[in-house]
Amino acid sequence: MIRDYDTALQHIRGVVDGEPDLIANLSNIAAILKNLDGFFWVGFYLVKGDELVLGPFQGPVACTRIEFGKGVCGRAWEEKQSQLVPDVHAFEGHIACNPNSKSEVVIPITIGDKIGMVLDVDSDKVDDFSELDLQKLQEVGNIISEL
Ligand code: SME
Repeated sequence: MIRDYDTALQHIRGVVDGEPDLIANLSNIAAILKNLDGFFWVGFYLVKGDELVLGPFQGPVACTRIEFGKGVCGRAWEEKQSQLVPDVHAFEGHIACNPNSKSEVVIPITIGDKIGMVLDVDSDKVDDFSELDLQKLQEVGNIISEL
């Protein structure tokens, strides 16, 4: 699926420009990304101590806390590596917050010198993400790292 990341990235750069509040910025970024075709759930999990805790998101109610190394999000945090999961049922340890999530991308985001949060995007279709999605969502992560 071709998604209009250029418009979304331009919109994101516009809304965060001059705004220092992180939660306000993450909230607007989640809202902008949720408009992209097929994004069923979009949100952030923030590193708090030894867990990820649910932050601003758009979509159905989600799991509140994820342990280090657990699920796709915890794996992205532990490995400091983006994760592209074409079929969540084939990912051992996947945390099913909603049965409609079928594929997933998770981007770890550096704040200062550490992973400070992850961006999690779920689709309700299997194999709905490409390397282009990964690359463009990493650009979103870079914008947040530089805030
Ligand atoms: N599936 C994720 C959990 C978060 S929800 O998808 C919103 C995981 O395995 O880490």
